[in-house]
Amino acid sequence: MNRRRRIYEGKAKILFEGPEPGTLVQYFKDDATAFNNQKKGVISGKGVLNNRISEYLMTRLAEMGIPTHFIRRVNMREQLIYEAEIIPIEVVVRNIAAGSFSRRFGIAEGTPLPRSIVEYYYKSDELGDPMITEEHITAFGWATPQDLDDMMSLALRVNDYLSGLFLGIGLRLVDFKLEFGRLYNEHGDMRIILADEISPDSARLWDVETSEKFDKDRFRQDLGNVENAYREVARRLGVLQENEPANLRNTGAVATPA
Ligand code: TMP
Repeated sequence: MNRRRRIYEGKAKILFEGPEPGTLVQYFKDDATAFNNQKKGVISGKGVLNNRISEYLMTRLAEMGIPTHFIRRVNMREQLIYEAEIIPIEVVVRNIAAGSFSRRFGIAEGTPLPRSIVEYYYKSDELGDPMITEEHITAFGWATPQDLDDMMSLALRVNDYLSGLFLGIGLRLVDFKLEFGRLYNEHGDMRIILADEISPDSARLWDVETSEKFDKDRFRQDLGNVENAYREVARRLGVLQENEPANLRNTGAVATPA
């Protein structure tokens, strides 16, 4: 069996060496964590669904001129991506108050925000991803002012496009988290690209009619029906056939790319 080199293992994904230099294979696990790893669980089939959902969204965004790390899906749980230098910042865009925003500012969950608000968090499990400002980012050299401009404008374009896309399938894009990386070409030129994933793990999606939650808050808040929520997002996006078999369980085994 082709044993690939494991480059990095996160809470929900594993990165393996790719088939060509400059590429990686991103493997989606069923593992779920919340509150910085204090709550752990398995959402059966999540990896398969997030692989498809993220493939779909990254592909649509690329068509809109947003550069992404996505190359192609390889199999049920894996996609081929460009190896970017990850910027250690989580960019969160919020349209409606929820989660840590509601707690921090005492604003009831569900309150529409006067405009879309972009926030930055420093990616550090040890520190619990503290919220940061542009001052911290540039002073500590995590990103340059130009990088930040690019990230901010890409994040807002992603928000505009995805808000419309989700509204079209009856879901409100409440908030979401993006990660970016630097990709260098053969001449050494750098550009900022969208990395990681976009899925119900990293976005809040509420039904337009009922406000029912179709995202990881079902796991965070023990609301039940977690698997079905992810499946419903995939189904509404048209990336899951109605009667597709449910054999999406995490085997622990890692398939090799075809
Ligand atoms: P928050 O309200 O908990 O700060 O989350 C804001 C958005 O970011 C929400 O859509 C979930 C997503 N998110 C992640 O993807 N990873 C994280 O570690 C956290 C805290 C939030």
